[in-house]
Amino acid sequence: EAIDQTLERIELGRFEHYMQKEIHEQPESLRMTLSGRVDSRTANITLGGLTNFERQLSHFKRVLLFGCGSAWHAGLIGEYLIEELAELPTEVQYSSELRYRNPLIEEGTLAIAISQSGETADTLAALHEVRTRGATVLGIVNNVGSTIARETDAGVYLHVGPEIGVASTKAFLGQVTVLSMLAVYLGRRKHLSRDTISTFLSELERIPEAIEQTLLLESQMREIAYKFSGRQNWLYLGRGINYPTALEGALKLKEVSYIHAEGLPAAEMKHGPIAMIDEGMPVVVIATRDVTYQKILSNMEEVRSRGGEVIAIVNQPDAQIERLAKNVVVVPRTQPMLSPLVASVPLQLLAYHAALSRGLDVDKPRNLAKSVTVE
Ligand code: AGP
Repeated sequence: EAIDQTLERIELGRFEHYMQKEIHEQPESLRMTLSGRVDSRTANITLGGLTNFERQLSHFKRVLLFGCGSAWHAGLIGEYLIEELAELPTEVQYSSELRYRNPLIEEGTLAIAISQSGETADTLAALHEVRTRGATVLGIVNNVGSTIARETDAGVYLHVGPEIGVASTKAFLGQVTVLSMLAVYLGRRKHLSRDTISTFLSELERIPEAIEQTLLLESQMREIAYKFSGRQNWLYLGRGINYPTALEGALKLKEVSYIHAEGLPAAEMKHGPIAMIDEGMPVVVIATRDVTYQKILSNMEEVRSRGGEVIAIVNQPDAQIERLAKNVVVVPRTQPMLSPLVASVPLQLLAYHAALSRGLDVDKPRNLAKSVTVE
């Protein structure tokens, strides 16, 4: 017991908990994910696990991503990336739904199982189901040699190192990073020009440094967490590729602080949820610059005029944001399609500190296991 505690103390180093350590490890762990695979100068992507798969890759006509929890959220982000960069129609399914829905798998389907542990029962079962129906299956897995890794036709490891905290942080960003590389890898066989690839990859190479800067926001996120952690219902709003970021932010808060939170596409507010907004309700809004920026500002206005408290995650503040949000969190600017990798970090820190403000065991939340190996 004493030895375990000493070992844990050594492993944790300057951090209080594994979740905090793993949030702060993300610049380094994503450098490992990218290492030896991305070269913006030559506009090249090398994914070792797919080498003897290169030829087949050109024949796929559609992509089916599946996973659970944060892995499913990573898949939703992957859908935007693959459709935009590789122009392949992409569908995302919960593993638990896919395995029981009698899936229609058409010829030319590339199925991709996303799983940090590589042992999630529903994802393994979904893999068997789609394989039986003729799909080729890739794995995006962290745990080397895990069951899912072994049972896929090929795959790409995350290389983010062991993730101990039950709430997925560095593995989630690792999954999104691998999906970004895969989207370019597939797109390179289609219409993507060398220039486009080179520009996108140089933006991807800068993400670890952007996350380093974002981690400097920890004290601001702690302040916001303590200010609102007494509230029992939060909303997370995002549009486009940051709608899944909103879902992931809400899941982080739920699973470590037990606060109820819901992620929504921002425009969906009008279709019912806005009725819930009452005085002081925290509403986290991801408002990084992209084509929908003006629209999300009007969603903030709707929240504010009903007494909601906007917590805005932005990468280019302006007078409108200052007027609409009392809590403005400024993250570094990135290529819009890579903004989830940066916008997710303050949301991880927010959830972590909300849990601490409630005196909870952030690394081992009640009723949760690190890998759901049973149905
Ligand atoms: C994420 O914070 C959760 N711990 C959980 O949703 C997790 O992402 C899910 O259980 C999938 O696990 P896997 O990636 O190991 O398959």
